[in-house]
Amino acid sequence: MRVRLEGVGRRFGDHVVLDGVDLDVAPGEVVALLGPSGCGKSTLLRAVAGLDGVDGGRVLLDDGAVRDHDPRCAIAFQEPRLLPWRSLTGNVALGLPRGTAKRAGEQRVAELLDVVGLSGFAGHRPRSVSGGMAQRTALARALARRPGVLVLDEPFAALDALTRLTMQDLLLDVLAATPTTVLLVTHDVDEALHLADRVVVLGREEGHDGARVVRTTAVDLAHPRDRGDAHLASLRAELLELLGVPRA
Ligand SMILES: Nc1ncnc2c1ncn2[C@@H]1O[C@H](COP(=O)(O)OP(=O)(O)OP(=O)(O)O)[C@@H](O)[C@H]1O
Ligand SMILES: [Mg+2]
Repeated sequence: MRVRLEGVGRRFGDHVVLDGVDLDVAPGEVVALLGPSGCGKSTLLRAVAGLDGVDGGRVLLDDGAVRDHDPRCAIAFQEPRLLPWRSLTGNVALGLPRGTAKRAGEQRVAELLDVVGLSGFAGHRPRSVSGGMAQRTALARALARRPGVLVLDEPFAALDALTRLTMQDLLLDVLAATPTTVLLVTHDVDEALHLADRVVVLGREEGHDGARVVRTTAVDLAHPRDRGDAHLASLRAELLELLGVPRA
């Protein structure tokens, strides 16, 4: 599914957060969004998923306007937000489209738990699994409806460094099996460069109060990517500089 933002603006009272954001994401493309804390990344994702409106411009999914809580989008956050009284199976089932037949739903949930490596924990409650396992459950729940757009807001930020790397590769495996348009917010430049076809930086520009796209960097490297790749290292240096991290 294609995602298009045309001159998107969003303000809260006098506070202009987004000020003319233009972005075009091709079907099946993975775009990572970077930008300083508070610059409006989550606000932008909420607009794409139809969780919140915009004050200017438009958000289009496959050329149709985004709908309230758009059923074509699935979203996952930094915290898994699972229901503690439901099993992992029950939580993943929450992501199924409304009206899914019982048998087909059970099959889909079992398949997804397998994809994220949790078949052996299907009956467990969230409190009896690790943070990484809970986050994999949230990812499975997001995938359950076969979303046209997968919207991920710092999905791996709360995980330890090693689990985070494993989760990134798990996501790539899932996307290789089921190509999906992905909009991913992260603060981790390496994560953005490992996962994305394109890295988009939001920030302030002269003459604008709110954030807009200040840089788009294509990452023309096939998967699997070598995390130590020299080209990635030079892109990383460029992006860190743009984000205001001084060179050592
Ligand atoms: N519902 C709201 N009401 C008022 N202000 C809001 C609301 N939602 C967001 N904001 C403001 O909009 C700005 C952007 O917030 P947003 O959460 O989009 O930033 P972010 O880029 O995701 O930051 P972070 O990287 O820290 O997650 C912030 O100043 C925030 O306080
Ligand atoms: Mg945010």
